[in-house]
Amino acid sequence: MPAKKDPDTEMTGTERLLGGGTMEDDAQGELSLRPRNLREYIGQKKVKDNLGIFIKAALARAEALDHVLLNGPPGLGKTTLAAIIAREMSASLRMTAGPVIEKAGDLAALLTNLEEGDVLFIDEIHRLHPAIEEILYPAMEDFELDLVIGQGPSARSVKLDLPRFTLIGATTRPGMITPPLRGRFGINFHLDFYSVEDLQVIVERSASILNAQIETEGARSIALRSRGTPRIANRLLRRVRDYAQVEYDGVITGEVATDAMNRMEVDRFGLDEIDRKLLVTIIEKFNGGPVGVGTISAAINEEKDAIEEIYEPFLIQIGFLNRTPRGRVVTPAACHHLGLDLSAQLDESQKDLFK
Ligand code: ADE
Repeated sequence: MPAKKDPDTEMTGTERLLGGGTMEDDAQGELSLRPRNLREYIGQKKVKDNLGIFIKAALARAEALDHVLLNGPPGLGKTTLAAIIAREMSASLRMTAGPVIEKAGDLAALLTNLEEGDVLFIDEIHRLHPAIEEILYPAMEDFELDLVIGQGPSARSVKLDLPRFTLIGATTRPGMITPPLRGRFGINFHLDFYSVEDLQVIVERSASILNAQIETEGARSIALRSRGTPRIANRLLRRVRDYAQVEYDGVITGEVATDAMNRMEVDRFGLDEIDRKLLVTIIEKFNGGPVGVGTISAAINEEKDAIEEIYEPFLIQIGFLNRTPRGRVVTPAACHHLGLDLSAQLDESQKDLFK
């Protein structure tokens, strides 16, 4: 059985230093590091610029912002952006998540408690039950709630007017959003992995909030191993700060950061144990692939969803893994990084795959 995953934190039992999910120990700290407005928000320039315009326009017309769909891997700032949107619109933010809404009544209660201009954030919106998703359609489009009261022949439907609100949906799996739902979002943003330069600025900003002394090289070193993900950068920063404090003089230099991360087994590309296990398993047990994600899931004891949503996107981004119609294939670059010689395990016909 794959390791059980907490739907809220995206953590398996073996908590992951490099996972995109929020770990409990830094959930509190993470909040204080989050940018509170668009001006403080670093990176995602296109999203930021466009969003700034849409917010300004909606404010000028004294209207609620159109519904927003945010998609991208975990830890890139979807929840943060939702909070920023609410703040910039001077609106209240209500937060929930797809898997939490079990009954139509749960969603009806949320919607009927909204006030004009409020922002309703639904995380993991791709996990909404189809029957519940249907309630959203008229709510999003016409600000109407269609409720069926009673059962059998005496059942009747009533329509309730809802205040004009903004729905912000977040998803790590845009492909799983049904077309009717997707079509009802007027604004659709994709968040990309952050550049090392942007992450470095984020680490420097966070260090200053945490009162941690950091040198440029220290911030760069953390940025380089953060898998393009601010949440990971902030988590690594806190742990590196622990090493700097206990084993050095408190200053996070390049050398301190590198030593700390090496000791935490976060490698040069930011890969951790699970990434390495995934790649090594494909190489050693499946001759480098192609192999289906279900088979990988069973072999490394990690949930299929976690593999697809958390681990794979970054491995694909750095060119260590490819998704092909026949399954996952490890690239020569990954073999090189891991110091494994794939060709030694291949027969002649397979070698063509890796030329
Ligand atoms: N902390 C986490 N994400 C951030 C971002 N995009 N900008 C600034 N600080 C952050």
